[in-house]
Amino acid sequence: MTAAAKQQKLAALFKQAAVIPVLTIEKAEHAVPLAKALVAGGVRTLEVTLRTDAAVAAAKAIIAEVPDAIVGIGTILNADDLARARALGARFGISPGATPELLKAAAAGDLPFAPGIATASELMQALAAGFDLVKFFPAEQAGGIKALRALAGPFPNIRFCPTGGIGEANAASWLAEPNVLCVGGSWLCPAADIRAGNWTGITAMCNSAMKSLKPA
Ligand code: 3PG
Repeated sequence: MTAAAKQQKLAALFKQAAVIPVLTIEKAEHAVPLAKALVAGGVRTLEVTLRTDAAVAAAKAIIAEVPDAIVGIGTILNADDLARARALGARFGISPGATPELLKAAAAGDLPFAPGIATASELMQALAAGFDLVKFFPAEQAGGIKALRALAGPFPNIRFCPTGGIGEANAASWLAEPNVLCVGGSWLCPAADIRAGNWTGITAMCNSAMKSLKPA
């Protein structure tokens, strides 16, 4: 697949999603009910982060048992993590940052991939490796919408998935930016709700978020 085709695929996924929950799953048995709760609330595109011992089993279970979920792997820190994401059958990969090694591995494979950037120099490195769709992380902490608008000056063709500090109160403002395809965040899947198995609460939160952020 060409770099352009990969980016197009990712852009379509991100645009369709509008909101991508960043999932930190501590127990593999939470994975399927959590994914079902999110999908029931209209949130189908999920980022399962490689941050816990249960992450791989969790992603595997969601991919096998929740066919309506579009599963990406997040917190990809190196080429081994990327290989893990590919082996799992993830639909996309996403990283909080990037290294030359990771960019090279991602450019060489077919998995649609969004490297993370927080500065112009990091963005230039991603661009040089062929990535024009990136995660802006940590979005609020790295300057918020003002910083994103400033980056749009020298980089008018870059599209972003801002993540970090985004929630119910500011998601709509981010999504209104012309170079933002989707936003990521953990606010639709709070750790306390996952631990308590509050699946109906998560579905209700998703329903209400999607109603306002992505009207039919
Ligand atoms: C992450 O990758 O940790 C995400 O940016 C989540 O950030 P949030 O918890 O501020 O939404």
